[in-house]
Amino acid sequence: MLRPLLFLSALIGLAGAETVNGSSVVDISNCPITFYGKQYEELYVSFESQQLVVCFDDYYNVSQPAQDCILGPPVDTERTFKTLVNGSTIDTFTFSSGNDTLINDGGDISACRHSGVMYKPGTNASDPETCFSLTCNDSAVLGITQCGPLDYCQDNTICILNPICTVTGPAVIDFYGDLNTVQDRCAYTLLSGSTVSGLTVVGYFRERRRRDVSFLDSVTLQLDGEEDVHLEQGGIVKLGNTTQTINGSTVLSNGVEVSEDQTGVTAVKTIGSNTVSVFFDGNTAQILLTGPPGEDPNLGGLCADSSTSLSDERLPGDNDCEVLYNDTADSSINCTTMTEHCNLLNDTVFTSCHNHIDPTPYIDACIDTLCKYPAVDGLDCQFLDAYARHCSLQINDTVDSWRSKAGCSSPQPFCQGTICSDHEFCAETIGGEIGCFCRAIFAFPYKSNDTLGDPTVCEENSASLTLVGCLLEERGINYTTLHLNDPTCTGQMDEVDHMVTFSFNSSDPCGTEVTSNNSLLIYTNTITALNSSSDNITRQDRVDIDFSCYYTQPDVNNMTFRIKDSPVIEQFTSGTWNYTLTMKAYTDARHTEGVDSNSEVQLNQKIWVVLETDGLDDGLVALVTDSCWVTNQAGTLRYNLIKDGCAKSDDETVDVEGNGEGLSNYFSFNMFQFTRSSGDVDLHCKLHLCATLNQTCTPDCGGAPRRRRSATLKYEDEAPAFITMTWTN
Ligand SMILES: *[C@@H]1O[C@H](CO)[C@@H](O)[C@H](O)[C@H]1NC(C)=O
Ligand SMILES: *[C@@H]1O[C@H](CO)[C@@H](O)[C@H](O)[C@H]1NC(C)=O
Ligand SMILES: *[C@@H]1O[C@H](CO)[C@@H](O)[C@H](O)[C@H]1NC(C)=O
Ligand SMILES: *[C@@H]1O[C@H](CO)[C@@H](O)[C@H](O)[C@H]1NC(C)=O
Ligand SMILES: *[C@@H]1O[C@H](CO)[C@@H](O)[C@H](O)[C@H]1NC(C)=O
Ligand SMILES: *[C@@H]1O[C@H](CO)[C@@H](O)[C@H](O)[C@H]1NC(C)=O
Ligand SMILES: *[C@@H]1O[C@H](CO)[C@@H](O)[C@H](O)[C@H]1NC(C)=O
Ligand SMILES: *[C@@H]1O[C@H](CO)[C@@H](O)[C@H](O)[C@H]1NC(C)=O
Ligand SMILES: *[C@@H]1O[C@H](CO)[C@@H](O)[C@H](O)[C@H]1NC(C)=O
Ligand SMILES: *[C@@H]1O[C@H](CO)[C@@H](O)[C@H](O)[C@H]1NC(C)=O
Ligand SMILES: *[C@@H]1O[C@H](CO)[C@@H](O)[C@H](O)[C@H]1NC(C)=O
Ligand SMILES: *[C@@H]1O[C@H](CO)[C@@H](O)[C@H](O)[C@H]1NC(C)=O
Repeated sequence: MLRPLLFLSALIGLAGAETVNGSSVVDISNCPITFYGKQYEELYVSFESQQLVVCFDDYYNVSQPAQDCILGPPVDTERTFKTLVNGSTIDTFTFSSGNDTLINDGGDISACRHSGVMYKPGTNASDPETCFSLTCNDSAVLGITQCGPLDYCQDNTICILNPICTVTGPAVIDFYGDLNTVQDRCAYTLLSGSTVSGLTVVGYFRERRRRDVSFLDSVTLQLDGEEDVHLEQGGIVKLGNTTQTINGSTVLSNGVEVSEDQTGVTAVKTIGSNTVSVFFDGNTAQILLTGPPGEDPNLGGLCADSSTSLSDERLPGDNDCEVLYNDTADSSINCTTMTEHCNLLNDTVFTSCHNHIDPTPYIDACIDTLCKYPAVDGLDCQFLDAYARHCSLQINDTVDSWRSKAGCSSPQPFCQGTICSDHEFCAETIGGEIGCFCRAIFAFPYKSNDTLGDPTVCEENSASLTLVGCLLEERGINYTTLHLNDPTCTGQMDEVDHMVTFSFNSSDPCGTEVTSNNSLLIYTNTITALNSSSDNITRQDRVDIDFSCYYTQPDVNNMTFRIKDSPVIEQFTSGTWNYTLTMKAYTDARHTEGVDSNSEVQLNQKIWVVLETDGLDDGLVALVTDSCWVTNQAGTLRYNLIKDGCAKSDDETVDVEGNGEGLSNYFSFNMFQFTRSSGDVDLHCKLHLCATLNQTCTPDCGGAPRRRRSATLKYEDEAPAFITMTWTN
């Protein structure tokens, strides 16, 4: 054992004999020296204050004394030198001056080292806190017993494997206590690997009230060849697509045992000698792995190493999930107050946990989240709860005294039984009730347009407006209190997406009001809140949402059509209700023989002219022919057929039928020509749409049994339109 020292003594002796100046590095890789349990292949030789110094790791440096060195005797004094390990003197050796024999105080330079610390032969060390024990036997052979890297040392004596991974809000605190934060809204592998072969635990992240903060939304246990188990908000457990009823505890068909208590749901799967237990309460997931201690389990996923690049564990899916948003900061958040609150995790109320579980990642995650996202939906207690639960799972120590200090009540079932749709999440209303709020990305277009719903849909015979249930919920508006002008017309909520639709149509006008301005016939209704006279106060926002559909009056440019191009069709697309207006001529009363370019029309032959619309609803409007007249092309000659909706009284050949009664009407007359004039004649008609909801549209032509014209009807107020047909003589 002393041989290396003899070598060194020779070196030092040499140094003593000659004068060595400066310093040098000696390569001893051919003959490495094991110095107190650590092997070296280089020597750094130098003189310090007339004294030869040999160090192993670097040149001797007074200001960095934690070195392994041999300090030689000062020149020309007694030949005693010292060995230093980590800067501390370990042994002294002396050369007998008479016979050059090395004498020391019984020590030698054999030893063991562990984690940089040197242990002399025959020593033991232990740290019960970590179940660590070390022996350096007389032959300087090191023996160590300690727990595996993921083991926990229980009762200072036994190692048990029970690492815990906590995923709460955007934070992932892995089995080793390292923190990472998920920024996007993708799915991530939380746990996989051969130790848990056949099982992959996946966490799905989604946004809630802000687009730039993600939350763990649901957890899935993917099982090779078997149906997945999904744990969702509200204590919902699904096997594949089927929601399961859990009565206390249930073993699902794929061997996953699911149990439910007032705090959340736990799914347990045993794989060989290991067991994975996944707890989820809708906000926080805690994954516990138990099994034989000692080994370094082969694990993957964020729980095994949260510091891995997040993209390594991101699962392929919706591409949009990676898009990052940047919402304006919430000015109501006082980060100082939140930091103070989060620092309660470092308070003495948690002392018994601190000895075993470092609160730092929980504190960091808490501050990081609560300085960006409002402390609602129990978020301020969520991180404290997660730490306390980690503590009770790992060291079986239930700490509860922190609750009163932090103002957090015992965990309650949150959102139990509330089923929100995909674009919603379960949240607490200002009034403290539970409801489904809109996720921020879904709500963004509505909120930036300050609207509660989609644009009005005007269909052939109905108008409808759809409001977004979760936006109403957020505004504290109970949709059942909303109705149209007619209070019996209420909104219908879709069971799945929670959209609330209000509609009216011709058979159920729901108090729709009709107004007309120059070119539009407008049907308006209003969504308002129930106005019960017994309620002198209200706790919800005033609601007054007007919505309307309109017809454009047939305000066409005068167009001249050759009869050969008949029929004359005009399409109206400017209004939200879309329709066409047609004018056709026939030579028979049944309207089968159309007049076209090949038709011969005789003078005094009876002609039927049909005016009809397509696409209108006869419950809402009627077509009224105000007047029809014939002119020569120059417009200098004019002959009236219909005036004020009635047949020209002195021409008995003219007959008007169905005017103002429906969506079409017709008239007949006997063909004529202007005396002393040849060439084309034009037939012009002036028409308008009349709202039938609450009035009569048939013109009063004096003769019984025609219905009386309603007093409220004013043709003149409603912009007329003209349709013109040209006849070639
Ligand atoms: C060398 O000298 C020391 C005392 O000076 C003595 O104890 C030792 O026995 C001697 N060794 C030999 C080998 O003579
Ligand atoms: C579950 O539902 C999804 C989407 O609705 C569907 O694509 C899938 O096929 C369903 N799976 C089963 C097993 O029914
Ligand atoms: C978000 O917006 C703020 C202020 O407008 C800006 O300082 C910050 O750099 C933006 N962050 C990202 C990721 O775009
Ligand atoms: C935050 O709260 C602390 C005390 O609760 C107060 O002193 C401080 O002014 C507040 N900061 C802001 C920005 O409101
Ligand atoms: C917790 O408190 C201790 C002292 O009480 C302090 O040294 C430590 O830095 C604190 N940790 C955190 C994360 O604030
Ligand atoms: C935890 O402690 C309680 C009593 O404090 C005991 O009844 C229970 O068995 C312990 N659980 C475990 C897993 O050690
Ligand atoms: C607001 O509404 C208009 C039309 O009403 C629409 O074009 C626009 O996209 C909406 N804004 C957003 C942010 O979606
Ligand atoms: C909404 O109002 C109806 C009747 O006014 C009431 O029965 C119902 O409980 C209310 N819903 C909520 C969530 O307040
Ligand atoms: C509402 O107010 C009226 C008049 O102030 C009062 O007579 C009535 O009792 C009040 N109704 C309720 C339910 O308080
Ligand atoms: C259409 O013709 C009528 C009568 O001939 C005329 O009063 C009206 O101004 C014309 N309209 C247009 C848009 O040309
Ligand atoms: C009007 O109706 C026609 C035929 O039904 C259709 O082709 C056209 O797209 C519609 N226009 C609008 C604006 O809906
Ligand atoms: C509609 O008709 C009803 C009953 O006939 C009547 O009470 C109401 O005043 C009418 N409304 C309008 C706007 O004419």
